[in-house]
Amino acid sequence: MKPTFYISTPIYYVNDVPHIGHAYTTIACDALARHHRMKGQKVFFLTGTDEHGEKVQKSATQQGVTPRELADRVVTRFQGLTPALDITNDDFIRTTEPRHYASVQGLFLNSLRNGDIYLGEYEGWYCTPCESYWTDLQLVDGKCPECRRAADRRKEPSFFFRLSKYQRPLLDYYGKNPSFIRPESRRNEVVSFVEGGLNDLSVSRTSLSWGIPVPGHPGHVIYVWYDALTNYITGVGYPDGGEMFDTFWPADIHMVGKDILRFHAVFWPAFLMSAGVAPPLGVFAHGWWTVEGQKMSKSLGNVVDPYEMVETYGADAFRYFLLREVPFGSDGDFSRKALVHRINSDLANDFGNLLNRTLGMLGKYFAGTVPSPSPAGEEDLALIARATETVRAADAAMEKVEFHNALTAIWDLVKAANRYVDASAPWALAKDPSKRVRLGAVLYNILEATRISVLLTAPFVPSAAQRMWEALGCEGQVAAAKLSAAGAWGGLRSGVTLPKSTVAFPRIEE
Ligand code: MSP
Repeated sequence: MKPTFYISTPIYYVNDVPHIGHAYTTIACDALARHHRMKGQKVFFLTGTDEHGEKVQKSATQQGVTPRELADRVVTRFQGLTPALDITNDDFIRTTEPRHYASVQGLFLNSLRNGDIYLGEYEGWYCTPCESYWTDLQLVDGKCPECRRAADRRKEPSFFFRLSKYQRPLLDYYGKNPSFIRPESRRNEVVSFVEGGLNDLSVSRTSLSWGIPVPGHPGHVIYVWYDALTNYITGVGYPDGGEMFDTFWPADIHMVGKDILRFHAVFWPAFLMSAGVAPPLGVFAHGWWTVEGQKMSKSLGNVVDPYEMVETYGADAFRYFLLREVPFGSDGDFSRKALVHRINSDLANDFGNLLNRTLGMLGKYFAGTVPSPSPAGEEDLALIARATETVRAADAAMEKVEFHNALTAIWDLVKAANRYVDASAPWALAKDPSKRVRLGAVLYNILEATRISVLLTAPFVPSAAQRMWEALGCEGQVAAAKLSAAGAWGGLRSGVTLPKSTVAFPRIEE
């Protein structure tokens, strides 16, 4: 196993406040970061805000403030997602910070010096919402092929990055690193795009001032995507290098939405190759959410506010829903009905109730004290084997970034534990004093299967998992437990006294 793991979210534009799409990427990264910490890896998890560019400047002008005032105001809404959603990012980067200016200018200068960046003139189209350049041929009915909004004609002096030169090196890189772009279907999309040929890319603007100046050419500001992508190396100390850089670069996963894959899988590795910096090891593109069957938009008034979700349903439930409801990588539909259904059925009924009813029986039959395990019968061995297998399966799914499969595997264990309760019928054993040792063994096994389930759900539902962990008499933070040690059967301590009940997941009125 690699000793380190570096994961990043995209950095979010500050032209508007966070919505479910931003929360989704950040939550997905957080679950992975937590899982990798529990594997014992040293993790670096970076998120932040993308504050320059025409889109932010335009939004500021509309609101009658400077871009910096807008950024300073909106950034707090993104930073606030960390406590609200229980996110464990190690750093938060703003592209307006001095460290980032040094990094972007440093990277740019490398390519300027070796001739990969040259001065020319840009003539073509620009889509401000996507901050993207398009040629006549690429436009669809005169509109941006990505977001289908009107693009503007532009003609201005510009520095260009020699992207055309990197067609072969990029294709070689994809060939040698089959898991660089995931999921697989997206990889094919990018490969065909690059095989179709690459034009040199405009990487500076003179008609805009809200950005990082090109060193030595103060009339030019660096293209916002060049600026933004560079955040991933700024975060680990570029251009100075040092221990952080050596430890964590190249990043393991840049998590992105499918709409911004091309920037990450084509432009970014090319910029880095040109400057002599290793490309990232992986880019994962996830799908998009619609809301109650419709595209999410301000004009429809159906934008899902993550803060409102947390207030109404709690961070654990929101996190669980987003990662369980759709296969990661596919598009999905958000609905309150589906969310409430998942909370009541998966969280409250299957999982919460497993612990709660077992604590109830433990209180009644053993005054709450955890009995000793004892030699196992066939049905016990099946449960133990299932638990062991689930630890492996959940990890395998997480390695493939298949959250839904990890959760399905964990819930199979939870359901198996519930069936074991019903089949072994502790209430019947309790009526026969000669079965007391057996009753103790059964309760121990249920609690132990629950403990392992709690351990595995900790990356997804961190607060509830901690409450359940404590209710099981386990010490310390479940988030700090290591999967290899704590995931082994038999970790539950006998002789400790547990509470008679606990509500890990309150039910919600439908
Ligand atoms: N600033 C750029 C990223 C630069 S990274 C070097 C940007 N910012 S963004 O704020 O517009 O979008 C950030 C992320 O939100 C993207 O990954 C995008 O895919 C995601 N989403 C936006 N709407 C979404 C949904 N409706 N559903 C899921 N994710 C969505 O792009």
